Amino acid sequence: MTNDELSQTLDTTDEWITERTGIRERRIGGTAKSLGVLAGQRALDDAAVDARDVDFLLLATTTPDRITPATAPVIAHELGMHCPAMDINAACSGFMYAVRTAYGLLETGSKRILVIGSENLSRWVDWSDRNMAVLLADGAGATVIEYDPTENDLLSFSLGAEGADADLLTCEHGGFFQMDGKEVFRRAVRVVVDSAEKAMTLAGVSADDLALVIPHQANIRIIQAACQRLNIEMERAVVVLDRLGNTSSASIPLAYGDARANDRIHKGDYALLTGFGAGMTWASAVVRWSK
Ligand code: COA
Repeated sequence: MTNDELSQTLDTTDEWITERTGIRERRIGGTAKSLGVLAGQRALDDAAVDARDVDFLLLATTTPDRITPATAPVIAHELGMHCPAMDINAACSGFMYAVRTAYGLLETGSKRILVIGSENLSRWVDWSDRNMAVLLADGAGATVIEYDPTENDLLSFSLGAEGADADLLTCEHGGFFQMDGKEVFRRAVRVVVDSAEKAMTLAGVSADDLALVIPHQANIRIIQAACQRLNIEMERAVVVLDRLGNTSSASIPLAYGDARANDRIHKGDYALLTGFGAGMTWASAVVRWSK
């Protein structure tokens, strides 16, 4: 759905949306399950891993298809998996929270984990509310994380949550997303910069060492402001929000999928993955690319 299509029913323009957010178009459709199955299968194929050899499925989603059961077991069944499966909801930080959880599971006996971020945000958007409708979209991304006894490529994490700010971005049962955009913007830049610096320090790398920054895709101006403060030029930031909008916990895997498809990241490269979202939650990690 393009900005022009949106402006046919909303009091907005392509110019406003592009200038204030960087978003030009977004994908609408699917469910957390259908998109998650698609992304999960592609990740398994790409990693040449049989579904039966995965011993945990973690699904990051803000928009599960039902309150219960969780969507993860349903996806696991569709993919032919016979392993524990659970949803993780940390809003737009969800994928990085799931990767952090996967790391803990790998440290305690798991061998191979499928992590999926899948969102059906459009279902919870009031399409007559221009504040939210121009931002949110549907999508899914996934990755396979394997235990390697000789090498750890998940170098550091810095996660946090500040529940005092929970009312800044909400969606009540049966309701729609609502947000204090300006306040979320301000806090987002602060927590991204702070957690990114902590993750880099913990990993023993500097901003100059990073091949890429793979940020949550909410607003190009948030990415620009954070990169400027971290002394990272925008050429090293992956941006897909122009085509995909804000897909919450799907945005980081969609961004590094795009980076891989465009040959922007290679084995041994350091990357900073960083996100923030409702909660407010945030999560940064430094990883060394292993494939
Ligand atoms: N189309 C056209 N005009 C719009 C508009 C829209 N979709 N939304 C707001 N406006 C108008 C406002 O009414 C205001 O008009 P006024 O100056 O006459 O009062 C003007 O545009 C500026 O609005 P403002 O809210 O100050 O814009 P902004 O630059 O703060 O951008 C957001 C708004 C939501 C894009 C921005 O604050 C943002 O991205 N915040 C973070 C959101 C986010 O990342 N959420 C996800 C977290 S995971």
